[in-house]
Amino acid sequence: MQQALQQRSAQGLTRTVTPIKGGNTHKIYDGKQEYINFSSNDYLGLANDEALKKAWISAIDQYGAGSAASPMVTGQTHAHQRLQDTLCDWLGFEQALLFNSGFSANQAALFTLLQKDDCLLQDKLNHASLMEAGMLSPGKMQRFSHNNPARLQQLLQKHGPSLVVTEGVFSMDGDCAPLGDIATLCQHHGSWLMVDDAHGIGVLGEQGQGSCSVHGITPNLLMVTFGKALGVQGAAILCDSNTAHYLRQFARHFVYSTAMPAAQAVAVTHSVHLARNQQWRRQHLAHLQDVYTQAVAHLPGFVHTQTAIKPYLAGSSTRAMALADFLRQQGLWATAIRPPTVAKDKARIRITLSASHLPHHVLTLAHKLEQFELMNPAKDAS
Ligand SMILES: Cc1ncc(COP(=O)(O)O)c(C=O)c1O
Repeated sequence: MQQALQQRSAQGLTRTVTPIKGGNTHKIYDGKQEYINFSSNDYLGLANDEALKKAWISAIDQYGAGSAASPMVTGQTHAHQRLQDTLCDWLGFEQALLFNSGFSANQAALFTLLQKDDCLLQDKLNHASLMEAGMLSPGKMQRFSHNNPARLQQLLQKHGPSLVVTEGVFSMDGDCAPLGDIATLCQHHGSWLMVDDAHGIGVLGEQGQGSCSVHGITPNLLMVTFGKALGVQGAAILCDSNTAHYLRQFARHFVYSTAMPAAQAVAVTHSVHLARNQQWRRQHLAHLQDVYTQAVAHLPGFVHTQTAIKPYLAGSSTRAMALADFLRQQGLWATAIRPPTVAKDKARIRITLSASHLPHHVLTLAHKLEQFELMNPAKDAS
């Protein structure tokens, strides 16, 4: 352990956990200073929505604090069932299985579906939960270059029917997968497609139905999380009835884990209702994205994205940390993301916009990024 910790420290990659006081809203307080928060995944500004908080609180009165058992025992309530039905109606699937986190949902899907000799093809930039499950599963995994259907096609030709997994919106780059092309390839090669839409659900599409609805596809499995745009916590896998039945029998993360509290299921159901119907949140977010693009596009670290995830490339880890520190001194919280989470020399500030921001928050950020660039011209930024 000492050796690994020293190595990490020597590489300047030690991670720290900074507790904030109060909730994770667009303004956060670390006990000393208040910051405008550009680091949460609360894309629609729902995490502190008054109606949502009330829905959760009153559901605790009805259902109690915890579920006290796994879904297979007595942990599943009508509140869970209502959430499953709501998700199926919203996203157009036969069934939904609930999980306590997206991490466990992804692991459950891959560990349960892949048997020895099965082939798993994953986008190279997929989330750690997918990569780890793929590596530890009995199947054989190959990664295809990021958002590259041509490379995926070669692998499908070589390996035959496979399980193909991609994110809808990539968490660190904010770019979108070419889901139409990938779905066509899967169909052509008799393969299954799983989409992790942790960062697309609620944000993309007319009713926030996410990346798949934007591309007009229905994957075999869709994983959505409740802890980002929906402002709560937990996740679901959506699929057909047969697959759901199989997962309920064999997915250990489902069978051997305490069900999410029923009150939480009520809160997520309420949140889906808000995300689905309050189009103004997506419109406001789109406006903030335009403000950001106009104000930052001339700076060297700018990367254009179609989503509220705005990576700002700094180059080296040291420079990313210096930029994050500088922003913090200016009252802006934007976390540096370094290897191994992103590639070497692609260290960055991961800026996320939220419907709870106002345009002047974004303009302040743009101004401070510009100041940093003037004071610290990029030598090693890629
Ligand atoms: C693409 C992606 N998938 C899955 C997860 C895990 O979701 P959760 O935070 O609910 O465990 C994340 C969270 O960071 C993510 O970015």
